[in-house]
Amino acid sequence: MADQPNYDEVIKALQEKYDKIDQDTDDHLYGLLYSKPITYWDYIQTDALLNLQIQRTTLPDEMVFIAYHQINELIFKMILWEISQVAEKEDLDVTFFEGKLMRISRYFDMLSTSFNIMREGMEVEQYMKFRYTLTPASGFQSAQYRLVEFASTELINLIDYRFRKDIDRNTPFVHAFEHLYWQAAGKDHKTGKKSTLLVNFEKRYKDEFLRFMETYNNKNLWTRFKELPEKDQKDKELVKAMRHYDYTVNVSWVMCHYNAAVHYIESGIGDGEATGGSDWKKYMHPKYQKRIFFPELWSADEIKNWGNNL
Ligand code: HEM
Repeated sequence: MADQPNYDEVIKALQEKYDKIDQDTDDHLYGLLYSKPITYWDYIQTDALLNLQIQRTTLPDEMVFIAYHQINELIFKMILWEISQVAEKEDLDVTFFEGKLMRISRYFDMLSTSFNIMREGMEVEQYMKFRYTLTPASGFQSAQYRLVEFASTELINLIDYRFRKDIDRNTPFVHAFEHLYWQAAGKDHKTGKKSTLLVNFEKRYKDEFLRFMETYNNKNLWTRFKELPEKDQKDKELVKAMRHYDYTVNVSWVMCHYNAAVHYIESGIGDGEATGGSDWKKYMHPKYQKRIFFPELWSADEIKNWGNNL
């Protein structure tokens, strides 16, 4: 006969659990009598999820655009989830750090290798039509993308090169915020006036960004890496994983994104302008901004040639 489950043991453990939070165990057991058995669709919330793809036009390929962006946002969420575990970890060690970093990297690798879904997966003619209904919005307004950056590196590495010498750890966050590299995409470079794209983005997220910047100031991936013992900071596999992540986010993904933009915006259809209105060709290519999360892990030559040969 199969082993009988030891109910007494389970009941005792449940009682201990509920006693700790001043709850009656029998109430919770009665609740079990009436609770619905779980199904896949209730658990995964498939109905809710599959009702979130709302087109603004009649063009079928707009569905690809919406769904792929949503998939990206879900993956950004998973990346932030893993980073927050490194940020919060007490007694952080090299094995934990490396394991999480590999998870984060795999997500970003997936975003890079799948980007052809954007580049090849929509008809240029359709894209160039439905994008008219998206102005002045842009993926630039993805808040989670910005959070991934804040959580990955020291703030100084996200500051526009032109202003780095005037900014340090004592600079108030509101001031640093105005000099983040991405401010350049949303400002008229002659007058400094902010575009609607940027004004809307800040109205919605600036307060949250400032809080997040402060929170991650001392527990982003780089500061946590620097807290590891010297010998762990030299661990070959960990350094390789850090460099891989940096390169994937700041070169591979950026190039896939740039190439998709060239494919559509320079297709000869339309005016060559970005929906967000930036000077996009200069802004998006990695060789101009040389965004690098972990500059100490790259040689002077590697930094000098960042994105140059692409
Ligand atoms: C056909 C596909 C795409 C095109 C043509 C495109 C085009 C652009 C352009 C031109 C910009 C510069 C800002 C502006 O709009 O003026 C931009 C920024 C941005 N887009 Fe896209 N994009 C595409 C897909 C995506 C996808 C799938 C994502 C994922 C969420 C995304 C996320 C971003 C982000 C995060 C920025 C800001 C990047 C930065 O600050 O360097 N884009 N995009």
